[in-house]
Amino acid sequence: MEKWNWIREIEINPLLVSNNSLVALDARVILHDACSMDVDDYTGQTAKVIRPAIRPYPTQYEQNWVSKKGRVILIRAIMPEDEPLVVDFHKRVSEESVYTRFFSDMKYEERTSHDRLTRVCHIDYDRDIALVALDGEKCSDSDCKLVAAARLTKEHGVDVAEFSILVSDAYQGQGIGEKLLRELVCHAKAEGLHAIEAIVMPSNRAMIHVLEKVGFEASYDKEEGVVKQYLNLQKQSEEERDPSVQLSCFTEPICI
Ligand SMILES: CC(C)(COP(=O)(O)OP(=O)(O)OC[C@H]1O[C@@H](n2cnc3c(N)ncnc32)[C@H](O)[C@@H]1OP(=O)(O)O)[C@@H](O)C(=O)NCCC(=O)NCCS
Repeated sequence: MEKWNWIREIEINPLLVSNNSLVALDARVILHDACSMDVDDYTGQTAKVIRPAIRPYPTQYEQNWVSKKGRVILIRAIMPEDEPLVVDFHKRVSEESVYTRFFSDMKYEERTSHDRLTRVCHIDYDRDIALVALDGEKCSDSDCKLVAAARLTKEHGVDVAEFSILVSDAYQGQGIGEKLLRELVCHAKAEGLHAIEAIVMPSNRAMIHVLEKVGFEASYDKEEGVVKQYLNLQKQSEEERDPSVQLSCFTEPICI
């Protein structure tokens, strides 16, 4: 996947203007590295690059990772073009997995409606992050399969995000859930979030086990009949010298 660059400057010169048209006879576009904020101007002086209003696609999550069964899994942030892959993904999840994820038996048609998937795949990377796992190193292949999706949704007005995840049934138990969760914890720390929350059914032993392995603390909510999981990121950062809670963060820093 190509790295995004800033368009530092577009120079158009000269212009031919008539009643109903405008023609540029010559134009040049100057690009700067996506991570640069202070850059060398083409004149040799240092110039500031203005941050764009919309955060660009975060390429830093893209990595190949090998599952417990030896499958090469591509992990990356979700993108709008993933909509057909998500539709196909939902064909391959059981009713039980859907129920434990959505706390309801949300039907396939509802899960894959264009309205919903527009919100799922077109995200504001400033506010939310969703990672997908794809079976295969090259996802330009037409048979590329989306096998899991995990998301952090920032709650309004507080530095807390809610975690959710769905792994397709055939790929459960291969470490994908834990891997995606660890990546999202790293992301939350890099974003300066205070905590991550997750709401889990008491019967969802696998999810509870993974969350606790990563450091979440559980409390049972009797009234709602759910397990509430909470990860205090600031506390965990202080404890990070303990190798048992070491996280496998992406290597590049977040650019903006
Ligand atoms: C829960 C879920 C996300 C886990 O993902 P996954 O990729 O299967 O998880 P992993 O393979 O990383 O880890 C599963 C762990 O749970 C353990 N586990 C599985 N079943 C278990 C059970 N009944 N009791 C205790 N632990 C269990 C596994 O042994 C493994 O732990 P280990 O790596 O220490 O051996 C996945 O099963 C899923 O998508 N379920 C449906 C949706 C859902 O429940 N979402 C969570 C609500 S937000």
